[in-house]
Amino acid sequence: MELERRSLLRGAQGTTAFGKRLGRLLTTGDWVGLTGEMGAGKTTLVAGIVEGIHPGQKSRSPTYVRVEVYGRAPAIVHADLYRLERAEEWDTLGIEDLAGAESGAIVLVEWADRAPGRLPEEGLRVSLRYAGQDAREVLLEARGERWQRLLREAALGSGS
Ligand SMILES: Nc1ncnc2c1ncn2[C@@H]1O[C@H](COP(=O)(O)OP(=O)(O)OP(=O)(O)O)[C@@H](O)[C@H]1O
Ligand SMILES: [Mg+2]
Repeated sequence: MELERRSLLRGAQGTTAFGKRLGRLLTTGDWVGLTGEMGAGKTTLVAGIVEGIHPGQKSRSPTYVRVEVYGRAPAIVHADLYRLERAEEWDTLGIEDLAGAESGAIVLVEWADRAPGRLPEEGLRVSLRYAGQDAREVLLEARGERWQRLLREAALGSGS
């Protein structure tokens, strides 16, 4: 069973604010897979999540380097699979190793659909889509019991 939540995000600030609230729910070992077409707001949402976990921590768009790591305890592993040519390239990125290092990490993967089946079954799936020029719709899908409970209970609101 999957639990879903949809919200409307008004402007980039709405996406960032939603990301911050989401970030505060994340703990070591969590994996978040983000999908959505170019410009849908994935990197903006990640920036909010990172800010929610480590206030003041700046994030980047790892489109070229593919993986960035921010902060500690928990470290945040931020991957962008846009330039992945084949799903097998996932194995060269070392994301599982980074995720398991030290005290564990939170893993955020943009363009997660480019490496089907590589993310753990459990976790959160986030998809973003255009809802007019100045808004986006975010769909959260909980995979596994922990995320179902979190999504049921969390007051994420709908952007701001
Ligand atoms: N809710 C929103 N309403 C309007 N604009 C938004 C919203 N959220 C983000 N944006 C804007 O959309 C643009 C693209 O955002 P972003 O770079 O996060 O998308 P992306 O999904 O990472 O794209 P890409 O796949 O090309 O990297 C940015 O200018 C950002 O400010
Ligand atoms: Mg991006």
